[in-house]
Amino acid sequence: MRVLAPAKLNLGLAVVGKRPDGYHDLLTVFQAIDLADTLTLRSRAHGIALHVEGDDTIPEGPENLIVRAAMAYASEHGVEQGVLITVTKRIPAGAGLGGGSSDAAATLLGLEALWGVDADPVAERRLALELGSDVPFFLTGGTARGEGRGEILTPLPDPPEMGWLLAIPEFRCHTREVFASLSPGLTGSIQKLRMLEEAIHHGDVEAFARHIVNDLEPGVVRIEPRLARIREALQRLGAMAVGLTGSGSAMFALFRSQGDIAQLLDAGSILEGARLRACVPVGFGARVVTEDDDHRHPDLAG
Ligand code: C5P
Repeated sequence: MRVLAPAKLNLGLAVVGKRPDGYHDLLTVFQAIDLADTLTLRSRAHGIALHVEGDDTIPEGPENLIVRAAMAYASEHGVEQGVLITVTKRIPAGAGLGGGSSDAAATLLGLEALWGVDADPVAERRLALELGSDVPFFLTGGTARGEGRGEILTPLPDPPEMGWLLAIPEFRCHTREVFASLSPGLTGSIQKLRMLEEAIHHGDVEAFARHIVNDLEPGVVRIEPRLARIREALQRLGAMAVGLTGSGSAMFALFRSQGDIAQLLDAGSILEGARLRACVPVGFGARVVTEDDDHRHPDLAG
């Protein structure tokens, strides 16, 4: 069985406040995109094992969220059968693209199908949140508002049609460190997030581009000043808007059309040390691959 685990962008992210449990309340707009990892699940008699392909920096032990998700799922449902999971990594780690979280959601959905467990959706979402703040989003994906730690989800319409470019730096950012560096006087961009949603509802390209915002960016740039140069370079290419996803390090740039991006990629795919790649929003999250998908999205995983 194969499961697709797409990456996400945070089109907007406002920090609303710090919580007593140490996390931060957020208001964010998530968007799933066509950059995806693929998981293959095979039944075996006993034990949970993981094999990682495509990124030799990713651990294969219990520090990997895939293994933690599988162990938690098996124990919650009393499953004694084992599973061998192979993940082909395409989503870079430490980029704010949610790769590990999407892999965890894909594991839960894949095991549900493989083991034929009738999972209670509420219990599944709770387990997802225990694994990480972004994991619940990937159970449904598409375009969604996230509140709380990001687990209170409201579906939104598709964003307007534009050209989307990802810039993926060599270096990684550490989510915990970025949140820890937030200054106490939080200036939440809540109003801007409301306007961003409004623009999505109206399909208003200009307003959409104007309200891309991430409250984590100033702190991330203090830690990684190279990101300021990547932002400037993307703006010089003529981007209508540039955004940071999650706690970085990846940035995205919006252009009027996909044609604009094709031209840029022809001109060279490295910018200030960041790898450039076109991407497309998708209306789904982690999901078991059907034969139909293979026909409809032949290059989704590319
Ligand atoms: O939930 P996750 O494991 O992805 O979070 C990683 C770290 O990021 C947390 O330990 C916390 O320091 C920070 N975080 C936060 N508020 C959030 C999400 C993450 O402070 N809503």
